[in-house]
Amino acid sequence: MDKAQKTEIHVRPMTGEDLEQVVAIDRLSFSLPWPPSSYHFELYENPSSRLWVAEIQEEDGKNQIVGLVVIWLILDEVHIATIAVHPEYRKRGIGRRLLVETLRKSVQMGAVTATLEVRAGNLAAQRLYKDLGFEVVSTRPRYYVDNNEDALIMTVTGLNNDYLAWIEDF
Ligand SMILES: CC(C)(COP(=O)(O)OP(=O)(O)OC[C@H]1O[C@@H](n2cnc3c(N)ncnc32)[C@H](O)[C@@H]1OP(=O)(O)O)[C@@H](O)C(=O)NCCC(=O)NCCS
Repeated sequence: MDKAQKTEIHVRPMTGEDLEQVVAIDRLSFSLPWPPSSYHFELYENPSSRLWVAEIQEEDGKNQIVGLVVIWLILDEVHIATIAVHPEYRKRGIGRRLLVETLRKSVQMGAVTATLEVRAGNLAAQRLYKDLGFEVVSTRPRYYVDNNEDALIMTVTGLNNDYLAWIEDF
């Protein structure tokens, strides 16, 4: 897809008012969705959590949440706990933009390493992560309880302003 055709998004902190839409996107995106209580915990109780949503402006001028991301920031490591784009808005560059923004904010907060778990069969997400420099560092066999699928642990190290300039330059 040409850069010019990609959808512009605005990334902002998630609030309690967003939870209904966030949970709906999560349910549409995962075979083991997070219950609303997990989002509630991450939003209000987990001091290590940061949560953002990606919004687009519809033709009628209204903002629409089309993506979500939750990270855990522990010292200089960021763990991407979940990231998803509404199925109707995928393949328009939103997931990449949301992840780039997440990594940018993480570097600003002191992260030098980013880690995540991804299903071995989730090739779309793996391709996105590899594009941004993530590499598979280990496997957790039969990690996902719904189908016994393996989890791949993917990591990118050496996050800094040069790295941000590189990922912004796609
Ligand atoms: C993974 C996900 C967030 C990607 O969001 P998206 O907005 O569709 O991604 P983008 O349009 O920004 O695509 C970025 C890159 O990801 C890869 N990608 C995305 N969808 C893909 C697909 N269906 N097949 C192959 N590669 C794909 C490509 O490398 C793509 O770059 P390209 O457009 O230059 O080819 C989205 O598919 C999703 O929400 N999936 C369900 C939830 C999920 O699996 N989350 C990750 C859990 S670890």
